[in-house]
Amino acid sequence: MVKLPFKIECALRLNYLFESPYTISRKFEGAHVYGETPIATVAHIRDKLHFGKTVLDLGCGTGRVVFYLNSLGHTVVGIDHVPQFVYKGERIISMLKLSGITLQRRDARQVEFTGYDTIYMAGTCFPEKLIEEITPKLAQSGAQVITVSEPLGAPFEVVSEITGKFPWGETTIYCNSVISDKSSRASAATV
Ligand SMILES: C[S@@+](CC[C@H](N)C(=O)[O-])C[C@H]1O[C@@H](n2cnc3c(N)ncnc32)[C@H](O)[C@@H]1O
Repeated sequence: MVKLPFKIECALRLNYLFESPYTISRKFEGAHVYGETPIATVAHIRDKLHFGKTVLDLGCGTGRVVFYLNSLGHTVVGIDHVPQFVYKGERIISMLKLSGITLQRRDARQVEFTGYDTIYMAGTCFPEKLIEEITPKLAQSGAQVITVSEPLGAPFEVVSEITGKFPWGETTIYCNSVISDKSSRASAATV
């Protein structure tokens, strides 16, 4: 059975003993939209869609995915706009003296996506408008972008897809990439 390292599981549980991530998220967003990718599903996605060394979890929530990928040797950045998630995650990083892991409090619209091999976006709660807004920046980054339930639009193409299990049911997980001749034309157009 795939699990988070014991110390991290305990630290995460302690972090959310008195207030669940669902409650924190609802207070911040005013809507009940929080959800997490089960660790077994993250392991399955990583295995089948081949994550690169450096990973961004865009909309990282409590950081469960970030901590898991880091425990497997990835350099991971987690970004979320909810301050408590970032603050509580940073507490775990310093308490357990973890390296190769950074959490940032930021809105997805303000993020520079360069420097990542893989970007994981489980934000099925991201509004369509936000996804449209950040798609050009994601495309310029050259990273493979993993999305849940919906693929990204042009200039991305789905290069592979798998089925993954979530608490609410099974869904398709897409690996989106910009094929290289298109990306070189895109970057030439911006010079
Ligand atoms: C469905 S949760 C995914 C958590 C984690 N990535 C996982 O897969 O377990 C989506 C997260 O995206 C964050 N989020 C939503 N809109 C955002 C935005 N505009 N900028 C940054 N984070 C955002 C939410 O706060 C939430 O923690």
